[in-house]
Amino acid sequence: MNAQRILVIDDERSMRDMLELFLKGEGYEVTLAEDGRDGMEFLKVNNYDLVLTDLKMPNASGLDVLEFVKASSPATQVILLTAFGTHLSALGAMAEGAFDFIEKPFKMDELKFQIQRALRVSELVTNQIAPQGEDLGFLPLPMVGRSPAINRVFDVIRKVAQSPTSVLITGESGTGKELAARAIHESSNRAKGPFVVINCGAIPENLLESELFGYSAGAFTGAVATKTGLIPSAQGGTLMLDEIGELPQHMQVKILRTIQERKVLAVGSVEEIHVDVRLITATNQNLENMVRRGTFREDLYYRLNVVEIEMPPLRDRREDIPLLAGYFLRRFSHQTGKTIRAMEKETLEALLQYPFPGNVRELENIIERAVAFETQDRLSIDHLPPHVLRGHGLGHGPLPTEIPLPPEGMDLEETLASIERSLIFDALRRTSGNQTDAAELLGISFRSIRYKIQKYGVDLADI
Ligand SMILES: Nc1ncnc2c1ncn2[C@@H]1O[C@H](COP(=O)(O)OP(=O)(O)OP(=O)(O)O)[C@@H](O)[C@H]1O
Ligand SMILES: [Mg+2]
Repeated sequence: MNAQRILVIDDERSMRDMLELFLKGEGYEVTLAEDGRDGMEFLKVNNYDLVLTDLKMPNASGLDVLEFVKASSPATQVILLTAFGTHLSALGAMAEGAFDFIEKPFKMDELKFQIQRALRVSELVTNQIAPQGEDLGFLPLPMVGRSPAINRVFDVIRKVAQSPTSVLITGESGTGKELAARAIHESSNRAKGPFVVINCGAIPENLLESELFGYSAGAFTGAVATKTGLIPSAQGGTLMLDEIGELPQHMQVKILRTIQERKVLAVGSVEEIHVDVRLITATNQNLENMVRRGTFREDLYYRLNVVEIEMPPLRDRREDIPLLAGYFLRRFSHQTGKTIRAMEKETLEALLQYPFPGNVRELENIIERAVAFETQDRLSIDHLPPHVLRGHGLGHGPLPTEIPLPPEGMDLEETLASIERSLIFDALRRTSGNQTDAAELLGISFRSIRYKIQKYGVDLADI
């Protein structure tokens, strides 16, 4: 593989020399430029995967370089080096399409990590994502973020990846639990093995055992041929049990046994098979409370929770919003064959104000939708959904708690049902039809939302 190419632009010689030494040591091909104008000359004749540029320089600033790069080679990522305390201009630069900024003085491993992430996105945008929204299938998506909170998560991921430890990932819906599990798998020595995700809440209770453990031919009516279970199908790889809190008690026992003995028994079979899988579990419920209430087995809880990773909600790490928004913008505009280079400053400001009850997934959906509507080359605030512009999410808006009883009386059941239907519809719409997220927004279980969707005949195609 060819070395990735980085253009370093800085007017300070010592900085250039230091970066050159470091980046070459990391195996990159490095070009040095002394100021913005010099940098643009290089950009005219060469292709770079990444431009690392100082913000304030004589003869064309870092922002000029950014604009030049975005116009001439949109797949090239730009990271700005800024002086400490210039946060605001850096945010403006993110709206203009910079991948990220890093404040001087910085730690080398921090820079290294940011560069790796930017290059991963650049690779993804140039080669990997099939245009026109083709299925991304197995392609690993990068996890981006710059806040101290998400950096702590990255640290733990790096640390636990190499050991076989069980990891429990907790956090609100849409915070990136599955992505984190995938990142652990990919950075582990099982990366070449399968990564299997099982949503415990989505499999009907009576099928759970046969789905998870498999069954042999003739085990029950309809079991015509032997079927490998989901757990054995993760052999040599990583198994993610998502929404572990939805696992019924009798299955909790079986999972515990599997962990302890590393063996599974298919339904109707007498022969146990050995399984070698790394277990990652995830939940947006409070398992500790469930243990206290007696609905989740304590012994299983301790087995799963050897290391816990708590995914921080997006509202607690707003610094990540510009980076994530920019990343999604690049991804979706490439995927839809558009060339949206940047976003209006107001668009980013509105996003920074919004509380994101649906976390990163909601941001992703908002950007996807805005990209779909955008016809110009800058993402306009007009394409943000109305509830984002109002600056408040669900739970902040006034909900009517007093409904006057009409003089002629009313059908209470029917009135409540119509309110319930409307809230379910709203929740599904807000989460682009994602039932797990909608259930979370409404504070009900996945099973319960599925039941209500059926009961009210909500057609998911209408969402
Ligand atoms: N740090 C991140 N960088 C890039 N994309 C992210 C990040 N975090 C989350 N996403 C994206 O947001 C979406 C939701 O993430 P994910 O499915 O991992 O969340 P989750 O916590 O498992 O949600 P749920 O509880 O609803 O299952 C995914 O499309 C994922 O790719
Ligand atoms: Mg998930």
